[in-house]
Amino acid sequence: MSLFKLSPYSLIDKKGKEPIVAITSYDYITAKLAEEAGIDFILIGDSSAMVVLGEEDTYSIGMEEMLIFCKAVSKGAPNTLRIGDMPFLSYQVSKEQAIYNAGRFIKEGRCHGVKIEGGEEVAEIILAIIKAGIPVLGHIGLTPQRSLELGGLKVRGKTIESAQKLLKDAQILESLGVFGIVIECVPAELAKIVTEKIKIPTIGIGAGSYTDGQILVFHDVVGLYLEMRPKFVKTYVNGFEIFKNALKNYVYECKNKKFPTEKESFKISKEILTQLLKYS
Ligand code: KIV
Repeated sequence: MSLFKLSPYSLIDKKGKEPIVAITSYDYITAKLAEEAGIDFILIGDSSAMVVLGEEDTYSIGMEEMLIFCKAVSKGAPNTLRIGDMPFLSYQVSKEQAIYNAGRFIKEGRCHGVKIEGGEEVAEIILAIIKAGIPVLGHIGLTPQRSLELGGLKVRGKTIESAQKLLKDAQILESLGVFGIVIECVPAELAKIVTEKIKIPTIGIGAGSYTDGQILVFHDVVGLYLEMRPKFVKTYVNGFEIFKNALKNYVYECKNKKFPTEKESFKISKEILTQLLKYS
């Protein structure tokens, strides 16, 4: 395995010292962009189901698709910490299957760890994976793989029961030995309390500014996925418009015989051309 900037557990050393910045990536080029931009770690997220494959949610994506994305990201960002997102049904069926699938992210996807959605309810599975020597990143709050059970993609932790569950889940995950926890879509003050109560880093998405780090979906950051625009997303460039205009220019130039020009064409020698014309 190639050298990488950060190991999963060395992320813990950053807590309280410097903010951790993460982003999702699913392919060679965006991984290269992330590495060159100085991202601390890349999550090969199951959000690929939506932003790459055009699905409505993340339920349908499986191991084989995820591994293709992981392999591409590993080639594009060989020196960056890479975490593979375990898709729905890849870890819930049995501990054996969970360890096997987590191992595939390391062995085939060339990732350095896996992310698993859920708290107490998946504790035994997470422990089994960690015991197999595979670093795990937790994920609590809004967990899209449980959106059917939880009634949609809504902010979590707004009632005392769900706020207490979030805190308890974070503490359970910490005691299991995860190297960090993604906290998605919870009130900022709640994320602050959780962040202060545990010694491992919290990585927020829609969880305000008090977490130890931030993560966003690549396509949201560069304005390429317009189907859903959650309040917590900041779009840094209008990628969809920029690419669309470039493609419109391409269509225009082809239709109007402005592309290709001589500059983009190959030449043949005059002698060969003369011979060719003579015999044709
Ligand atoms: O799949 C994903 O992109 C994620 C992030 C939103 C944390 O799980």
